[in-house]
Amino acid sequence: MDNRAIGVFDSGVGGLTVLREVIKEVPGESTIYFGDTKRFPYGPRDIEQVRGFVIKASEFLQKKDVKMMVIACNTGSVAALDHLKERLSIPVIGVIKPGARTAVKNTKNRRVGVIATKATVKSGAYEREIKKLDPGIRVYQVAAPMLIDYVENGILQGKELDAVIRKYIGPLLLKDIDVLVLGCTHFPLIEKQILAVSGNGIRVISSAVETAKDVKKILMEEGLSADAESEVKREFYETSLNSNFFRTGQIFLGAEIRKVIRVESGI
Ligand code: DGL
Repeated sequence: MDNRAIGVFDSGVGGLTVLREVIKEVPGESTIYFGDTKRFPYGPRDIEQVRGFVIKASEFLQKKDVKMMVIACNTGSVAALDHLKERLSIPVIGVIKPGARTAVKNTKNRRVGVIATKATVKSGAYEREIKKLDPGIRVYQVAAPMLIDYVENGILQGKELDAVIRKYIGPLLLKDIDVLVLGCTHFPLIEKQILAVSGNGIRVISSAVETAKDVKKILMEEGLSADAESEVKREFYETSLNSNFFRTGQIFLGAEIRKVIRVESGI
């Protein structure tokens, strides 16, 4: 038994989509969320720079004595998952592998589309992980940076948003995909809008549910689950003074998020 919290991390609000599934899967576990809103967005940046940010975030979570870490950010997973896994003594998981697994499970015609940040697309990580599971699957990718900005700024619906979604996923639909992977954790916040634009016959999936299942499995395998009697705590931290984190977080998580504590960006 281990009553310490699970640390969950993203550049902003996106990782809350993973946190929500983690809360559903293991409701008795305490969680500490860290949103690096001051340095958002990660996607257009150099991967080495993102690695540095993720390492800083992991140091913050380690100081909070978390028992496990979830990099709930695709770009962060690409940049630093291996690095952290090698160096930390606690389990660390990312979101790319669970997302790839979900895609492979769901595609029938073996044509998969991925929308993600520029850095994730450039890394080819989804294509690599999907092809490890099924080399015959074709993967088509599009970077959708504007969509991520909309979500982080709390614009979660409207005609303008729909037009941007259409612009990004139109080319993927022309490739006859039957699965669309939301390869950025910000996108499940606008999943309904993405579904409406993609139309029937396309399964829109994210890595959140599979990632949460991995969390549960690891806690059980490593004997790290919390005591059933333990008090469940939800803590939220962010690095920016003037972000929409709290407002968007409340829309998405409701009463689970009561306050957000700002921490110094230098951490
Ligand atoms: N939510 C992050 C991801 O899954 C990216 C957002 C950003 O560009 O910072 O990649």
